[in-house]
Amino acid sequence: MNVADLPKVELHLHHEGAAPPAFVRQLAQEKSVDISKVFNAQGGYAFNDFVHFLSVYEQATSVLKTPEDYGRLTTAVLEESAANGVVYTESFISPDFCGGGDLGAWKEYLHAIQDAADKAEAAHGIILRAVVTCVRHFGPEKAKASALCAAETAGDWVVGFGMGGDEGQGRQGDFAYSYDMAREAGLRLTSHAGEFGGPDSVRDAIRDLGVERIGHGVRAIEDPELVQELIDRDITLEVCPGSNVVLGVFPDFAAHPIERLRSAGVKVTVSTDDPPFFATTMRREYQMLNQAFGYDADIFHTLNTTAAHAAFCNDETRARVLKALETT
Ligand code: ADE
Ligand code: ZN
Repeated sequence: MNVADLPKVELHLHHEGAAPPAFVRQLAQEKSVDISKVFNAQGGYAFNDFVHFLSVYEQATSVLKTPEDYGRLTTAVLEESAANGVVYTESFISPDFCGGGDLGAWKEYLHAIQDAADKAEAAHGIILRAVVTCVRHFGPEKAKASALCAAETAGDWVVGFGMGGDEGQGRQGDFAYSYDMAREAGLRLTSHAGEFGGPDSVRDAIRDLGVERIGHGVRAIEDPELVQELIDRDITLEVCPGSNVVLGVFPDFAAHPIERLRSAGVKVTVSTDDPPFFATTMRREYQMLNQAFGYDADIFHTLNTTAAHAAFCNDETRARVLKALETT
């Protein structure tokens, strides 16, 4: 059996970061927005490093101007994920991009996204849940508006709160107010840490924000005590190997610490982050891990079961996901 054919759970996917370049080009044309600098000669996204990537990401996202655009994006993203065998995905969706932090506008965006997700579930069986995200380099004040949007729409569909953006700016603890608000609303918590920041960033996310999952977290490998702490606290890492390689965190798959973390006993899962930006897909991630570390169907099944248990959805949805992992 080809491991790429296995059913998959993806916990770390940025909604705009999953936008196919052709989709973004089409919207840019419809809206007469010039985003030619976003693309390379081959028509893919073009960037030199992490900070440049974030800027290109935001330029590409600028073509998404209405709830309807986000509905169309959701359809495109979920079709691609379903074609990759993904049965459940948690997508990072940011009120900063969906209505600029205004609660009324956010609800309209959310409605359009959810409507498209319902249709995709009916057509392809794929289940989507939302993790509302603040953007670190937009600062703690904007994050509060995002947390309020998250808290006001928390439930069975908006299931978590997280933070992406430039890990080089500020500290995790600067966002504690927003994380407290989200926690009080019943949302489950994750944050990008240990991607471009070192082990201290992961420690800060755990202690200052109280997260139960970490986006990336892979640089924890630099500190054996932290690796043990991740195990002791039962924290799940949302690992995105292909993203880390393209952004230069590690030179190649063989040098990636996912296997060292896994064999040490850390709960790891596999995601794509921003697949077209990093020329990857879930199928490709599985193929690359199979080549680099010999991951077979049994190991992937364990990783997917771990992901299903770490998913922020309710238990009824989790049971459906676990069943899809057994039967698909
Ligand atoms: N936003 C989109 N992709 C991201 C990443 N890999 N790290 C931080 N913020 C992001
Ligand atoms: Zn990410």
